[in-house]
Amino acid sequence: MIVLWALTAMLTLQPASSTAGLDFEVFKTEVQPIFAEKRAGFTRCVVCHAGEGGTAFLEELSPGATMWDDTQSRRNFERVAGLVTPGQPLASRLLMHPLEPAAGGDEFHNGGRQFTSQDDSQFQTIADWVRGDN
Ligand code: HEC
Repeated sequence: MIVLWALTAMLTLQPASSTAGLDFEVFKTEVQPIFAEKRAGFTRCVVCHAGEGGTAFLEELSPGATMWDDTQSRRNFERVAGLVTPGQPLASRLLMHPLEPAAGGDEFHNGGRQFTSQDDSQFQTIADWVRGDN
């Protein structure tokens, strides 16, 4: 019984602790819009990463909506937090996966090399959020 209770407590606490050091407001107003924005020559992140699939980390946008509401944003925040290491942008999958390999990114991303360099302004916005600099 006690073991079960402890396990349940650990599991329920996990999402909260994994967002430690990450600012929700900054995520919602600065980071999240990047996932819904069209980059020239690329498909929007939300097109491939929304829903419940294996690599989904975003909620589906409601029909007609161009941005997530508050409840959806909370859920996105928790899911995206699982793809970053707070304080360490360069150890964060969210940043390294879509980054050009010559700029330090991962070898392959099905969605393309959306960040051509670490100086990319959107890369920087996400990196600042991960670092806790804003
Ligand atoms: C054309 C579809 C597509 C687009 C657009 C796309 N991705 Fe992906 N992405 C994938 C697929 C498929 C995978 C899994 C296979 C792989 O690693 O490439 C993936 C993997 C990832 C992963 C690793 C996820 C994990 O669970 O390990 C991250 C992080 C990621 N993408 C971020 C992004 C970001 C950020 C954007 C927008 C800037 C983006 N992707 C745009 C298709 C896409």
